[in-house]
Amino acid sequence: MLYGRTTLSKFLIQQQRADKSAGDLSALLIDVAAAIKGISAMVSKGALGEHQGTLETQNVQGETQKKLDVVTNDIMLRQCEWGGLLAGMVSEELDQPFVIPGGYSRGPYLLCFDPLDGSSNIDVNVAVGTIFSVLKHAERKPPQTAAYLQPGDRQVAAGYAIYGPATMLVISVGRGTHGFTLDRETGNFVLTHPDLTIPADTGEFAINVSNERFWEPPITRYVGECKAGRSGIRERDFNMRWIASMVAEVHRILMRGGVFMYPRDTKDPSKPGRLRLLYEANPMAMLIEQAGGCASTGRGRICEVAPTDIHQRTPVVLGSRNEVERIERYHREYESGADRPFVSPLFNERSLYRSEVT
Ligand code: AHG
Ligand code: MN
Ligand code: MN
Repeated sequence: MLYGRTTLSKFLIQQQRADKSAGDLSALLIDVAAAIKGISAMVSKGALGEHQGTLETQNVQGETQKKLDVVTNDIMLRQCEWGGLLAGMVSEELDQPFVIPGGYSRGPYLLCFDPLDGSSNIDVNVAVGTIFSVLKHAERKPPQTAAYLQPGDRQVAAGYAIYGPATMLVISVGRGTHGFTLDRETGNFVLTHPDLTIPADTGEFAINVSNERFWEPPITRYVGECKAGRSGIRERDFNMRWIASMVAEVHRILMRGGVFMYPRDTKDPSKPGRLRLLYEANPMAMLIEQAGGCASTGRGRICEVAPTDIHQRTPVVLGSRNEVERIERYHREYESGADRPFVSPLFNERSLYRSEVT
C-alpha cells in the first residue's frame, strides 16, 4: 500500500522541523532528486536511447568520456543552476568549477558531483549511479576554487542514486542515512530504507584484484588473510565481489555490510588512489559513517582530509567497522614494523636505515 508512505518531500519537511535552517537545503535536494529522475529515465532506455557509446573527448582526469557522462552532467547542471540555492558546482566532467550564469541568483550552497559513476558499465547494462556532496558557501562573493576545498566533515548533505533494477536515492543530511525507492508510477521517491545500519562484522570484501601487484603490504596482508579463509588466521571463509561501480559496492555494503577498498597503490605514483575526494570519497564516507560504518584512507578518516585540488584522488577503505579498523591497524603495524617482528631492528620505526616509503 503506497498511499500514506513517506515521500522524499515529506521526509525533508520533517527534517526541516528538526532543523529550522534546513529549508534551502531541502529545496536543493528536491532539485537534485529531479535531475536524478531525469538521469534514471535516460539510462533505463539502454540501447533504445540516443546516448549509448563513447566520445572522442577526455575529461580532466584523462578518461575517455561516454556520451552519457556528458549528457548526465548537463542534466545535473541545468536542473540545479537556476533555483537560487547554489553558489557554484564542481563536477567530475568539468575541468573548472561551474559558475552560476549571470541571469540566476546565487545561494548559500556548493554542489560537487559525479554525474555518472561506473560509466564503464553502461554499455553492458550493469548498475551505475550519481554521487553528490553539498557544502556551505558562507560568503556573498562568487566562490573561487578554494571555496570547494573543504574537508568532508563540513558536508551538510551527501547522497547517491543507484540505477539498478530499481532506482534508489540514498541521502544523509547529518541525521542518519536513509534510502528511497523511485515509484515509477507516481514519480515519487518513497522512503523504503530508513536509518540504514551497517553491521560491524562482515564476511565480504570488494577490491580490484588485478591491481594486486601494485598494492602496499597492509592491503596484500589483509586480502591474503581473507582469501586464506577458514585455513588461515581469520579461521572463516570470506566472499568477494567487484562490480566496478562504486555506487553499487557502497549500496551493497549499506544493505548487508562488507568492506570496499580502492587503496593507494604504485600503479601510477602520481595518483594517490583511483577515486576522487570531493565527489566520490567524501559523500560516500558521510553516508557510511552516518550508517555506523567507517570510511578511511587506511591511515585516517577520509572526512578529515584537507583537499588541495578539486579533482584530487584519495585511497578509500570503507564499510563494516571492525574490518576497516583492522585494515587501519595493518597500516599502523606496517609503518612501525610491528608486522615484521623478525626483521632486523636496524630497519624498524626508530632506525636511521628505515627503507620503506610509507
Ligand atoms: P567513474 O565511472 O565515475 O569514472 O568511476 C568509476 C570508479 C568507481 O565507480 C569504481 O569503483 C572504479 O572506478 C572502478 O575502477 P576499475 O575500473 O579500476 O575497477
Ligand atoms: Mn565515479
Ligand atoms: Mn563518473
